[in-house]
Amino acid sequence: MLLRAVRDSIISPYLPAVGAPAAATATTVVFSMESMISVANLSKTYGSGLHALRDVNLEIRRGEIFALLGPNGAGKTTLISCICGIVNPTEGVIRVDGHDIISDFRAARSIIGLVPQELTTDSFETVWATVSFSRGLFGKSAKPAHIEKVLRDLSLWDKRDDTIRTLSGGMKRRVLIAKALSHEPQVLFLDEPTAGVDVSLRHDMWEVVRALRASGVTIILTTHYIDEAEEMADRIGVISNGEIILVEEKAELMRKLGTKQLTLQLEHQLDGIPPALSAYRLSLSEDGMQLVYTYDAQRESTDIIALLRDVGAAGIGFKDIHTTQSSLEDIFVSLLKGKK
Ligand SMILES: Nc1ncnc2c1ncn2[C@@H]1O[C@H](COP(=O)(O)OP(=O)(O)OP(=O)(O)O)[C@@H](O)[C@H]1O
Ligand SMILES: [Mg+2]
Repeated sequence: MLLRAVRDSIISPYLPAVGAPAAATATTVVFSMESMISVANLSKTYGSGLHALRDVNLEIRRGEIFALLGPNGAGKTTLISCICGIVNPTEGVIRVDGHDIISDFRAARSIIGLVPQELTTDSFETVWATVSFSRGLFGKSAKPAHIEKVLRDLSLWDKRDDTIRTLSGGMKRRVLIAKALSHEPQVLFLDEPTAGVDVSLRHDMWEVVRALRASGVTIILTTHYIDEAEEMADRIGVISNGEIILVEEKAELMRKLGTKQLTLQLEHQLDGIPPALSAYRLSLSEDGMQLVYTYDAQRESTDIIALLRDVGAAGIGFKDIHTTQSSLEDIFVSLLKGKK
């Protein structure tokens, strides 16, 4: 219930300007010009009868980095595949830069670059040939200078004449990104771009993604590394069981749903929390040497001043004090727990 309330209050402002969702049709949906991608009333039921997406409404803003988070099987890849025209939606309307992905397929697809989740690059072709070929698939004329830039940006230039088969897993993943960028897309989907890549490559990829955003590319990424979303995203969407349960600015999400903890390292052991401090959300460590105060991240600091004053008045001395703030990962885990 709480989650539904959170979802309703947080997501509603981002829903497209449609009438009652159930009544919306292709002709009644109004798409915002600000949106790069508009998904309205999207549902997907696979042939097996599995409902992978349920009435998804989502607006992706031009030029943002949007992180789509959710547990295994939540529907992330299905959603991306529908937008990219790889999976047929059962219901709903999707537009990319105003182009309907079904009736205006070519225009929509030419704007999009997709880095798929699965590695499918076990070829005898060279890196250069593979990436150049991808560009040709979109009917774009050869542009060696662009291919060279992409390969250099992804540290693949030295490998350009090597066959794909001989590359390591991380390098193959970089080739997938190079392929997705070969036709200069305005929108880039990265479906778990850093799964199984080492820390330094992850940071390189973040740099590449940031540079792309700076050049005006809209980016949608999925990841199971929540710290990646915390580091990169402007907005976060959480999907669970085929439903979008939350869409929010990252900073706002962390401010609204995050908690902070203030820990007092005591001078002397306490047996219990004194009654004079019962009004505060306090807990005492097992050894009785730490008093921990948990509070909302957006709370004014006046509470803390009052707490410290009351601690002093209760005759409790402390020798150290520190605060910690919940990470996006903590928030994500608690959101999904609440959903179960
Ligand atoms: N081609 C298919 N046919 C039938 N069911 C499918 C198909 N593809 C995916 N599914 C099912 O749809 C649901 C959503 O799968 P999807 O791949 O979109 O999840 P995901 O969020 O990308 O998960 P992960 O984090 O594991 O990549 C899952 O229950 C999955 O088993
Ligand atoms: Mg997936």
